[in-house]
Amino acid sequence: MSRITRATLRSIYDSRGRPTVEARLVTEQGAVGTAGAPSGESTGATEVRAFPPGGVPEALQRFDTDVRGRLIGSSVDDQAALDRLLHEADGTANFSRIGGNTATAVSVACAIARAAENGKPLWQTLLRPGLDGSSYPAIVGNCLNGGRHAIGGPEIQEYHAISEAPRPADAIRAALEVHQRLGERLKAKFPHAALGRGDEGGWVAPLGNVEALELLSDACAEVRDRLHTPVHPGLDLAASEFYREGRYVYRERTLDPEGQVAFVASLVDRYGLRYLEDPMQEADFDGFAALTKAVGARALVVGDDIYTTAEDRVAEGIRRHASNAVLIKVNQVGTLSDTLATVDLARRSGWKTVTSHRSGETPDGWLAHLAVAFGSAGLKCGLLGGERVAKLNELLRLAAPTGT
Ligand code: PGA
Ligand code: ZN
Repeated sequence: MSRITRATLRSIYDSRGRPTVEARLVTEQGAVGTAGAPSGESTGATEVRAFPPGGVPEALQRFDTDVRGRLIGSSVDDQAALDRLLHEADGTANFSRIGGNTATAVSVACAIARAAENGKPLWQTLLRPGLDGSSYPAIVGNCLNGGRHAIGGPEIQEYHAISEAPRPADAIRAALEVHQRLGERLKAKFPHAALGRGDEGGWVAPLGNVEALELLSDACAEVRDRLHTPVHPGLDLAASEFYREGRYVYRERTLDPEGQVAFVASLVDRYGLRYLEDPMQEADFDGFAALTKAVGARALVVGDDIYTTAEDRVAEGIRRHASNAVLIKVNQVGTLSDTLATVDLARRSGWKTVTSHRSGETPDGWLAHLAVAFGSAGLKCGLLGGERVAKLNELLRLAAPTGT
């Protein structure tokens, strides 16, 4: 038994400069697990609460009064038992008392301490049945930002390079090249404009929704030809964010749900999109299903806000053929055990998973281990900014541990 002898929670800052929490657990053998929890901006309605009503100060206080005492003396060997204990300490259905970010930080810190104690990499301690950790996720690399992650960009939230080379080193290189080529195109198109970068490190420019996709698609084609690497465009529409009173409101057009399905399907036809996240608003299982029927053989249709990593919502999605993939974010459900239940359900049902960062991130690298342990089809962690590069670099390290 590897019992916890010390447990602390501190306030740290995320990549937007907003406070979040970091947990540190120490075992009697001296193994240490430290993990920070990220925060979202375009959050799903059914996510757990990241913090109690009083924010990080109340989260720290609740940790002292309700959580720490339960952790001391518990074993890091049993992830399920530790995560149950977090649910008990909280006592609500959505972690609104202790905060989902406290639960996430403690749960992941427990797995990291267990890995340290056993002298194993984190991914090995979380590996799903039937996997050996020898295949790596595609890189879902954020190249251009809009929506709530940018000021003055398109309504579509994220424009991605989906980079599918089997070796992480090749996949990362190609995705980064797309980001760079896109930057050159933007500078040529707006020689006198001040261009910026959004919350996830993608470019921000005064572009229309399709115009931005046109530029991304050209940049992908250039990199494909030059590097002979499979890299294609993809989108996270985060459609709930521009859905108003039954319609999808873009600057160029307003569409009813059927129009939205037809519009997005036409983008897949025209630009060869391989990845579509949240193409419909978060309550529209039928709209998701219609789109999956139309394009699911060609593109990954990924549910984020619609499922919020919750097992029961993914079960409903599977019943209704709503998509063929689910986005995985630990702090949408609050613990690794809840996350693993969702990952296992998806895998049993033949769905893909994409393991994802949040728009407000910490410089931790543990997300890369989760993507490998889960056998995810994609790792979505952005491309630029220290907090994003940290995950890419960790994927490089774990894919070639001896530096070869
Ligand atoms: P969030 O958004 O981290 O701001 O919630 C990311 C996403 O929608 O995938
Ligand atoms: Zn999303």
